[in-house]
Amino acid sequence: MVERTLIIIKPDGVQRHIVGEIIGRFEKKGLKLVAAKFVQLSEKQVGQVYAVHREKPFFKPMVKFLSSSPVLLMVWEAEGVINMTRKMMGATFGLYAEPGSIRGDFSCSERYNLIHGSDSPESAQQEIKLFFAPNEIIDYKLTNSPWLYVKSASPKK
Ligand code: TYD
Ligand code: MG
Repeated sequence: MVERTLIIIKPDGVQRHIVGEIIGRFEKKGLKLVAAKFVQLSEKQVGQVYAVHREKPFFKPMVKFLSSSPVLLMVWEAEGVINMTRKMMGATFGLYAEPGSIRGDFSCSERYNLIHGSDSPESAQQEIKLFFAPNEIIDYKLTNSPWLYVKSASPKK
């Protein structure tokens, strides 16, 4: 199923000049960028993204970090994009994330792990709505899509 996901390049990604690297990986994979905004989030906005973590001990310092400097908000679209981008991000803590993943290659921290990505279709829908009005998500055709998305024939029943 074609899905959309909210990706946030966190303040450490912007400050460390890793924005282009991350976008490049998603572009080269063949994902479709459908919305983007460069903003400094308020503590309240960060709290909305991470509402499920409100009671956790790391919540407060994480909110401070994410609102401390600008971030790049993006919506990417593709079949299975949620799981795919989660795999490309790697495990939560850069310290333990697999080499080859974004966090594994560029982060050796826990909190400073460069990137957020929605973890389910439900959270993607809620998170996208926090930052993008429907008319800010662009519906367009990727001209190279015939080269990207062709599927193998379905197996005989
Ligand atoms: P979580 O949603 O568990 O991870 P992910 O980003 O992989 O979906 O946690 C949200 C963010 O909170 C995570 O990216 C970094 C921060 N965090 C901590 O600072 N300490 C922690 O112990 C955990 C679990 C997360
Ligand atoms: Mg999460």
